[in-house]
Amino acid sequence: MDPERLKGKNILITGAARGMGAANAEAFAAQGANVCLGDLDLDAAQEMANRINAAGNGRAIAVRMDVTKRADNAAAVAATVEAFGSINVGLFNAGLNKPRFFMDIDEDNWDLIMDVNTKAMWLGMQETARQMIAQGKDGGPYKLINVGSIASRKPLIDVTVYCTSKYGCLALTHCGALALAEHNITVNGYAPGVVVTPLWEQLDKDLVDIGFKDREGQAYEDIVRDALQIKRVSYPDDITGTASFLASKDSDYMTGQMIHIDGGWCIQ
Ligand SMILES: NC(=O)c1ccc[n+]([C@@H]2O[C@H](COP(=O)([O-])OP(=O)(O)OC[C@H]3O[C@@H](n4cnc5c(N)ncnc54)[C@H](O)[C@@H]3O)[C@@H](O)[C@H]2O)c1
Repeated sequence: MDPERLKGKNILITGAARGMGAANAEAFAAQGANVCLGDLDLDAAQEMANRINAAGNGRAIAVRMDVTKRADNAAAVAATVEAFGSINVGLFNAGLNKPRFFMDIDEDNWDLIMDVNTKAMWLGMQETARQMIAQGKDGGPYKLINVGSIASRKPLIDVTVYCTSKYGCLALTHCGALALAEHNITVNGYAPGVVVTPLWEQLDKDLVDIGFKDREGQAYEDIVRDALQIKRVSYPDDITGTASFLASKDSDYMTGQMIHIDGGWCIQ
């Protein structure tokens, strides 16, 4: 890992207290970036920030934010600028899932998932872009990175709302790339498949609760056997390389792309 690859990049990451957000924060800072870890869970985000600061390359701060609130997104951007002087990259990673079969979806399930996964991405992109535009074109290219999913591309019978929300992330990536190019802002994203994180551990249990799987662990096994070309699930460390590429100058000539990091699920 090049400890200078992301030097000079100041990066806001939402949902950074654990899972892939935390892994990316750690990886970015190890490559010289300064990172602002935004999360509902301030204690866990602060703990991650302390760990990053103790490692001694890029600096880290933590902020409490509810990504579904515009004011919290604006405040997280402001905190990043106050701590590090500017913002160069926004990684919109906060997300959740709550499986339901189609006829069992209710308004609460719909609103919860669409608000956190899609509406919040739009708010985060807009508030971050507002600051980037104010900083001026010469400071770019600035980068917005959206976290999609295999569910951005494949219909899955047990998670209709999650699919709807993540197809929305793909649309935000495409439309954002069109709208923001004139400001020297690129918009790209990446789309994982199965990543072992607290989100998937909960999903694994919920799939048994709704009767889609008979026992915990079965969903992993079924997906590896039936859907993946690379015959294993993934871990946050499988994701950080692509996220780092999208945050780095190596991706400067890319916009409007969603890269699948899903063990080949998307071609199944
Ligand atoms: N784990 C997977 O297999 C997988 C696969 C494809 C896509 N994804 C996507 O990757 C992203 C990260 O997922 P993960 O598996 O690391 O999840 P995770 O549950 O491990 O971490 C998500 C983080 O987001 C935070 N968060 C949730 N709601 C929030 C809110 N309203 N405001 C602020 N923070 C909030 C949580 O506190 C948590 O720290 C999500 O967008 C998810 O949809 C995950």
